[in-house]
Amino acid sequence: MSDSDKRRPKPAWPSVERRSHTERRVERLGTAMRRAGTGNEDLEVRTPRPMRRDERRSGRDRRDDSAWQSVPLEITIATEADLAEALVAAATLARTRAQARYSGFKVGAALETSDGDVVTGCNVENATYGLTLCAERVALVKALSEGHAVFTRLVVVADTERPTPPCGPCRQLLWEYCGDIEVILANLEQITATLRLSALLPMPFDARLLE
Ligand code: THU
Repeated sequence: MSDSDKRRPKPAWPSVERRSHTERRVERLGTAMRRAGTGNEDLEVRTPRPMRRDERRSGRDRRDDSAWQSVPLEITIATEADLAEALVAAATLARTRAQARYSGFKVGAALETSDGDVVTGCNVENATYGLTLCAERVALVKALSEGHAVFTRLVVVADTERPTPPCGPCRQLLWEYCGDIEVILANLEQITATLRLSALLPMPFDARLLE
């Protein structure tokens, strides 16, 4: 390495060809989130901390906080196709705030409104167990209480290989307040399923039966 190379300051991000898949994805998603109007310009996401040479990390270790670092989103590119991934990023970020000390099962949710706003939620557990709030319900009640009324998509993120769908009570509430929205299920790597809420709740009980 020449002396002038040594003096050159390191870029905030590694050079393009050396960026990890996660870093590239985080950057893309951040762009889309701005375009989606989340308005969170100072958003930071957690991304795996670079590994030391002598270190191996398994999927299980990702639950360990020290395996992650906060990375500010740097915004450079955007396409409309990134919007679903932006929602996934919002749900992934919400998941990091899950209060899941009893089950250890962290879930994040992001609800997209017809105006393009994004309202997120995470699961909130407590010592009674039974009073646990699911991420989806937290996102829904937050959205309703903030005046949102029309919804288009929901993303649920959990660290599971198979899709983690909303539980029964959440399906009921989502159906009543959101209708037949698109439901995107994702893990920390990718989208694992996309389906309509009516596929999850095929014979719903709702207000029409009370008329
Ligand atoms: N949980 C959710 O938040 N959403 C789901 O779709 C499935 C389950 C939470 C509830 C509880 O805190 C933990 O996951 C384990 O059931």
